[in-house]
Amino acid sequence: MTSLQLTLEDIPSLEGKVVVLTGGASGIGLAASRIFAHKGAQVHVLDIVPIDESFDIYEIPGQPNGHFPQPTLSSAGSIQFRQCDVTDWNCLRDIFLSFKHIDIVVANAGVSQDPDYFSDILDENGQLNEPAHRVVEVNFRSVLNLTKLALRQFQQQNPGSSLVITTSSTAYSPEQSLPIYSATKAAVHSLIAARTSTDGGNLRSTINGVAPAATISKLLPGNLAAPIKAAGAPISSAFHVGLAVVYAAVAQQMRSVEMYGRDDPAKAASPGRWNGRVIVTLVTGGPRWRSRLQLRAGSGLGNITRRRPQCNKS
Ligand SMILES: NC(=O)c1ccc[n+]([C@@H]2O[C@H](COP(=O)([O-])OP(=O)(O)OC[C@H]3O[C@@H](n4cnc5c(N)ncnc54)[C@H](O)[C@@H]3O)[C@@H](O)[C@H]2O)c1
Repeated sequence: MTSLQLTLEDIPSLEGKVVVLTGGASGIGLAASRIFAHKGAQVHVLDIVPIDESFDIYEIPGQPNGHFPQPTLSSAGSIQFRQCDVTDWNCLRDIFLSFKHIDIVVANAGVSQDPDYFSDILDENGQLNEPAHRVVEVNFRSVLNLTKLALRQFQQQNPGSSLVITTSSTAYSPEQSLPIYSATKAAVHSLIAARTSTDGGNLRSTINGVAPAATISKLLPGNLAAPIKAAGAPISSAFHVGLAVVYAAVAQQMRSVEMYGRDDPAKAASPGRWNGRVIVTLVTGGPRWRSRLQLRAGSGLGNITRRRPQCNKS
């Protein structure tokens, strides 16, 4: 693993780029959308609820409310909301078909586990019902569907498109209270890792991921994050993780992640775009306007080398 420290300056101009991002009404997806738009991209947010403009993408509980400039929209950038339940194939497909060109797709929508998943629910005949699989539908099946639609779209375009998937640190370290959630995130992590190889991968497009640890969002509001913070675990703001999402879409590498020595050595040693990499986001304390980004990158199969100064108030 290699540590990354990212700032907005690490993201190139994205003027003219079209981004389709799911789950951008709040939290990580909203932060990523604002950063994409700040860099000039036209962002289309697919969500079941409208964008919550009041959501604080910089919140980290217990940190002072210092002034932190919002990433402003560039004159070329825009964010458009489109109501869509990602579990609805027809809705997803029709939205994809409405675009001539898409540069970046972010599969970010997610839900937490139903706490009653393992409770017995009986039907009218007293027979045990199958559990509801909403978390599998949103966190896994819809990501597969989005991947299918994105890769199909990318095949019809010039090389250079990116898919980024939001997985979770629970893919590496499953959370006892969230076994089904953790399993869905491990599944999408494998989907990303399966694209690691340079010889099997079709580099017309790339797939990378971001695995957030605890991050303040509507999924994990500040009050629910308190015990995590009390246990000494790092808490990220949505901004920190959003920056990792945007970076994963545009990152370049000196050499490829190797796949069990199966890759062509010359190809693996060539510089190019990230593919099959996952950034694990961990942020340590400090006043929020001087929060240091510690974005760990790597799939355990290869390394990148990149060091940047701490993100200071600007
Ligand atoms: N917050 C964390 O600590 C944390 C940690 C690891 C991974 N994640 C992942 O990050 C991603 C973003 O979540 P967040 O933490 O920003 O939470 P969030 O609740 O603020 O954002 C998730 C968004 O997904 C949307 N969504 C849910 N179901 C949908 C559906 N069927 N169709 C369309 N949109 C839908 C929600 O409306 C919401 O806007 C999720 O995939 C989540 O699993 C979050």
